[in-house]
Amino acid sequence: YSHINECQVVLSSLRYLVTNFRCQLALRTARCYLSPFSSSKSWISTRSIPLEGRNILLMGPPGAGKTTVGRIVAHRLGLPVIDVDDDVLEMTWKMPVAAKLASVGGERFLEEEGQALCNFSASGCVVSLTGSNPLHSEAMQHVRQTGLVIYLDVDSEDIIQRLTRMKVNRIVGQEAGVSMRDILKYRKQFYEKWLDVRVLCGTGDTVEEVAEKVLKAVERYQNHAAETYVSTRCANVRSSNQKTHFSDVVVEGLATDGGLYVPKNGFPRIDAREWLRLAGMSYPERALVLLEKCIHPLDVCALDLRTMAFKAYGSNFSSEAVAPVKHLNHNQYVQELFHGPTASFKDLALQLMPQLFAYCLPPMCNYLILVATSGDTGSAVLSGFSRLSGTDRHRTGIEIQKLQMTSYREGNARAVSVQSDFDFCQRTIKRMFGESGLTGHLAVEYGTVLSTANSINWARLLPQVVYHSSAYLDLCRDGVIKFGEPIDVCIPTGNFGNAMSAVYAKQMGIPIRKVICASNHNRIITDFITTGEYDLRGRTLMLSQSPAIDILKSSNLERFIYHVSDGDGCLVKDLFTRLDRQQHFQVPEPLLGRIQQEVLAGWCSEDDCLAAIQSVHRQTGYVMDTHTAVAKVVADRLQDGLCPVVLCSTAHYGKFAPAVFKALQIRNIPEDPVEQLRKLGSTASRPEMHRDMMTCLRESSRRRHTVCQAEYSVLVEEVENMIQDSFLKVM
Ligand SMILES: *Cc1c(COP(=O)(O)O)cnc(C)c1O
Ligand SMILES: *[C@@H]1O[C@H](CO)[C@@H](O)[C@H](O)[C@H]1NC(C)=O
Ligand SMILES: *[C@@H]1O[C@H](CO)[C@@H](O)[C@H](O)[C@H]1NC(C)=O
Repeated sequence: YSHINECQVVLSSLRYLVTNFRCQLALRTARCYLSPFSSSKSWISTRSIPLEGRNILLMGPPGAGKTTVGRIVAHRLGLPVIDVDDDVLEMTWKMPVAAKLASVGGERFLEEEGQALCNFSASGCVVSLTGSNPLHSEAMQHVRQTGLVIYLDVDSEDIIQRLTRMKVNRIVGQEAGVSMRDILKYRKQFYEKWLDVRVLCGTGDTVEEVAEKVLKAVERYQNHAAETYVSTRCANVRSSNQKTHFSDVVVEGLATDGGLYVPKNGFPRIDAREWLRLAGMSYPERALVLLEKCIHPLDVCALDLRTMAFKAYGSNFSSEAVAPVKHLNHNQYVQELFHGPTASFKDLALQLMPQLFAYCLPPMCNYLILVATSGDTGSAVLSGFSRLSGTDRHRTGIEIQKLQMTSYREGNARAVSVQSDFDFCQRTIKRMFGESGLTGHLAVEYGTVLSTANSINWARLLPQVVYHSSAYLDLCRDGVIKFGEPIDVCIPTGNFGNAMSAVYAKQMGIPIRKVICASNHNRIITDFITTGEYDLRGRTLMLSQSPAIDILKSSNLERFIYHVSDGDGCLVKDLFTRLDRQQHFQVPEPLLGRIQQEVLAGWCSEDDCLAAIQSVHRQTGYVMDTHTAVAKVVADRLQDGLCPVVLCSTAHYGKFAPAVFKALQIRNIPEDPVEQLRKLGSTASRPEMHRDMMTCLRESSRRRHTVCQAEYSVLVEEVENMIQDSFLKVM
């Protein structure tokens, strides 16, 4: 509950370690061995890559507009243009390309086309590739070294229409009677393999508009320095010349001045036609495109991002839709964010975040992630980090202390139960971070840095923007609304991460009218949003049936105040310093107005929460968890019915079985947790039981687990064992 203090401790120990000999050596070695072009990791000093002499290569399916767009772009930049079809292939073969294809057949054509491209040399040109070039690996490796590959991503249906209109009736690969649709689908993976930058083309975009997007994409690529991050407590953003990039932000977590990182220039805005393209895509595809827009390709290259997004949102979600939206009643919809492996919405961020973290780490240091938890974060972190593969897995180990007697030993992740309460775990971790004797020892002996995967990390917030966007796109796709019509979202709110990411989705262009924040009887956020005063004095945490939103210090609120004050770092610094010292602050009147334009807030009593679970079940057969019920109660009270409202269902009802039994007034509750879940599952007609939760419970009874005494030295020993198991065996 006090992430802010906790993080300050984390950071100072990191800084201590960077001055430590072994880590410094590691960083220096890494810098020497990687040329600026082979990696984009931010600890490499070369940031901007001028285009000087490099080509702009346009890639995409036939009919994407590569030739025409190439001409316009070349004209605008005053560069020569090369069309591979006309200027390379026909010159080499001395015959039209179509004639060549007809005479030698598809396979031979691809090979000869590739060979011809291998001989290609040019610099400082705009080059329009052929639609089939990307199928030849050697040729692509060759041309890719000459410049920047831009993928004109056009919808397949648009391509098919254009080709019909252009009377193109045969392209490479079509001999065997394969449909055009299948060929385009097959080829997409090759385009996504070679691209440096995607240009997402909307249905109806003119060639001039596409050319404009290409120019913007080239400019973005070259101007890496424009996509830096600043602290919410940074007094003068303009004069600050510190360049903090995505990779720094992911590894550091908290800014050195105690603030949280935010993108200096906010979020990119996406136009309606592009959103409509996204509406036709699957969840992992939507995630990929949106993340590409928010993470500069020199921080994480497109292909690696693709691998990560597809791994995160693939088979580990029990619903293929990942975050499906279901109709509840009237104008209310539920977005089910609980289909991940640990059945809470934390999975949406934590299936991706560890991969980004591992990618951004300097390659020579080991990191040990420590998290004190009693709830959803712990299990989601465990699941996310345990999925890392190969060397990444060996470089990040996890040690989790859980309040309850749980255990988890899978790969590099493990939980240790401590015979004490959450506060003890939290204090112990803080003490470990703060003790330079210990952190120094771990660094020198094992080259290992302690870190934490807390909720303020930018890489945890960013993936959440995707599901808010996705909810809106699903409603468009299913004809509930037309693009541009508003919706409200209602969110059970604790650390304000979920709510903040909805505000960011709105900044990207999703027409969210109001973000409604729902609290339980720990109502500090509701009080703040209604009065403008954040007051910790005299408040104590009251237990509730919705423990994930039992909160006093809501850490991401700092990002929200920064956002609504148009980036007033001085104000944010002043307010949060005051909160630390005096336990309260009051925002100025005009700012309160701005806050209330963006968000509404309400709170729900324990009784109302249970009553809502029961009445929704009676009316619709749907069983909600306690957090979702809090959102339902508040939405009923505050929403005006003028537009659809999406309730964020942040957990599966099975996770909070006792409260749900009580709400549904079910007696004779079985003792065995697996039986409890079965019983609840047979009561609920919707949603379906959570596959992984069942399996996990079944297995946990068989697992051996470590239980520690509540003693500092015992836990330190546990940490050292963990490091030995994780890192020493593989080195
Ligand atoms: C973490 C959590 C929340 C709170 O989300 P914030 O982003 O911290 O506001 C709500 N519900 C559940 C089930 C959670 O696990
Ligand atoms: C590539 O260039 C070499 C030497 O210039 C030439 O011999 C060869 O035929 C060329 N290959 C193709 C496929 O054009
Ligand atoms: C996630 O998926 C991978 C395969 O993609 C599987 O090996 C792993 O067990 C899954 N993890 C969980 C927690 O479901």
